[in-house]
Amino acid sequence: MLLRGAATLLFINVQALKYLRYTNRLADFVQRGSPAIRPGSKGSRNANGHQSRRRGQQREKTTIMSDIKTWSGSIRKLAPAEIGKFRDHLLRLDANSRRLRFAHGVSNSFVEQYAEGMLDDGSIVFGFFEGGEVRAVAELRKLGTGEAWGEQAEAAFSVETKFQEKGLGSELMARVIRSARNRGVKHLFLSCLAENGKMLSIAKKHDAKLHFEFGEVTSDIVPEDASHFSLLAEAVEDRVGYMMAVFDLQKRHDEAEAALDKAA
Ligand SMILES: CC(C)(COP(=O)(O)OP(=O)(O)OC[C@H]1O[C@@H](n2cnc3c(N)ncnc32)[C@H](O)[C@@H]1OP(=O)(O)O)[C@@H](O)C(=O)NCCC(=O)NCCS
Repeated sequence: MLLRGAATLLFINVQALKYLRYTNRLADFVQRGSPAIRPGSKGSRNANGHQSRRRGQQREKTTIMSDIKTWSGSIRKLAPAEIGKFRDHLLRLDANSRRLRFAHGVSNSFVEQYAEGMLDDGSIVFGFFEGGEVRAVAELRKLGTGEAWGEQAEAAFSVETKFQEKGLGSELMARVIRSARNRGVKHLFLSCLAENGKMLSIAKKHDAKLHFEFGEVTSDIVPEDASHFSLLAEAVEDRVGYMMAVFDLQKRHDEAEAALDKAA
């Protein structure tokens, strides 16, 4: 009964989300006078001469959940109970990805300790879930002291090797920027090594100001002001995400019980 109610609620939320995506595109069309996404036109290369995956599309800066995606999982905010999944994801990063994520090589114990503080100070962590595991993450952290979000925040990203170059980093960036703009953030900073072509490629698409120093780059992205669309979109997605988290927890609970029964 409870499960059926939850499933109905999820269905309603998903429909709301679809409607929202439609209205978002419509609003974008009205504001910019151009369709948000036009699939199927000819391919293009980015500034680094790298072949762009979404061939010839006019990629809008705030695209969320693009229709043309090459992954099958879902993205939602992580619940505090999912710290373990966040930690396991970071530990699974290959050595080079881990080095690029933290700007230098770090030990497993460092990663474990870092993951423990995942939701400290009201930070937001988006996770990409596939097969019950977190395979990619975007972190949005406040800068400065105090409870409230100030004008500055910091973002960080990690995508497991097998899942890289499928558009996940870009999708997560769009979520982080939307969450930042909904909280009044005016400067979203992102630090990475100067050699990190993929990260810089994503940042440049959001007109980031790049500051190079001693092999590292700080990107400064200025999010647009919040709109009722951006606020509503995040609120609806949060509700869907909450339902997904409940389903995932229920599934883990059922699996643990089944394993115990089997062992008995
Ligand atoms: C950086 C990272 C988050 C990007 O995620 P991703 O899912 O691989 O990124 P996407 O697929 O969304 O986009 C990558 C873009 O970089 C482009 N690209 C790939 N290799 C590139 C290179 N060597 N130079 C420049 N651009 C490159 C791709 O073509 C793509 O652009 P497109 O969307 O126009 O086709 C991911 O690779 C990662 O986790 N790396 C290790 C950790 C890290 O570096 N974190 C960042 C520091 S916080």
